[in-house]
Amino acid sequence: MPAPATILVIDSGLGGLTVLREIVPTRPDAHYVYVADDVFFPYGHHSEDEIIARVVPLVGELIAAHRPDLVVIACNTMSVSVMAPLRAAYSVPFVGTVPAIKPACAASKTRRVSVLGTRATVKREYTQALIRDHGQGCEVTLVGSGELASLAEAALSGVEVSDQSIFAELAPCFVGEKDAARTDTVVLACTHYPLLMDRLVRLAPWPVNWIDPAPAIARRVADLMKPADDATEEAGAEMIFTSGRPHALNHALMPFFGGRVPA
Ligand code: DGL
Repeated sequence: MPAPATILVIDSGLGGLTVLREIVPTRPDAHYVYVADDVFFPYGHHSEDEIIARVVPLVGELIAAHRPDLVVIACNTMSVSVMAPLRAAYSVPFVGTVPAIKPACAASKTRRVSVLGTRATVKREYTQALIRDHGQGCEVTLVGSGELASLAEAALSGVEVSDQSIFAELAPCFVGEKDAARTDTVVLACTHYPLLMDRLVRLAPWPVNWIDPAPAIARRVADLMKPADDATEEAGAEMIFTSGRPHALNHALMPFFGGRVPA
């Protein structure tokens, strides 16, 4: 029987699971290797040069060890810094995750859009260029959050996270409360944030359209992969923390892996 295709998904931590859970149903036949580079977490606190120096060799080692058919960079902070160096260094196909500014600006009726990401993502030239090229005349507010990714990790791990601490990170996204044209669209430009979706919706000062790029990334992965072979071996899943720590969250992680228990 032929071996299943392997898809490697990498993030700084648990945020990339929000991308993985959209990919798995499109390719249930594939074997998944999920890598959390927790040694370097949070990426949002590192410079572009530090991220390139960290990610390019790490991804090279992962490609050598797991021979993936495709690599998903399920992290905005990594993607806005390293997609070009990765593509230059390795021939495997890559799919990145970058702030969904184009669809958000196309969808906004009030022409006021906020981009909620890590401090690093909102500072990067890549993000500024997306606004210049695809802002479509919208007023785009960039909100760099120092803490929300860590709060999302904590919440998924079962640690109590207060509404107040989440609201403090979220509040600057809501612009023009007294105007007719207040913010109506918020781009979730960090893959950790959809882990807190219920709470973001509940704590928002008014309803907005939240843009999560994960479904679009899953469609891109499905387009790039070779069609599934009917007779592949049963596919599995692995989860790797670069720190080597074991993952003690099996029951909470299973839904992200389409019900599989990651080895
Ligand atoms: N999940 C990452 C992203 O999409 C960021 C979290 C971090 O700061 O490491 O940007």
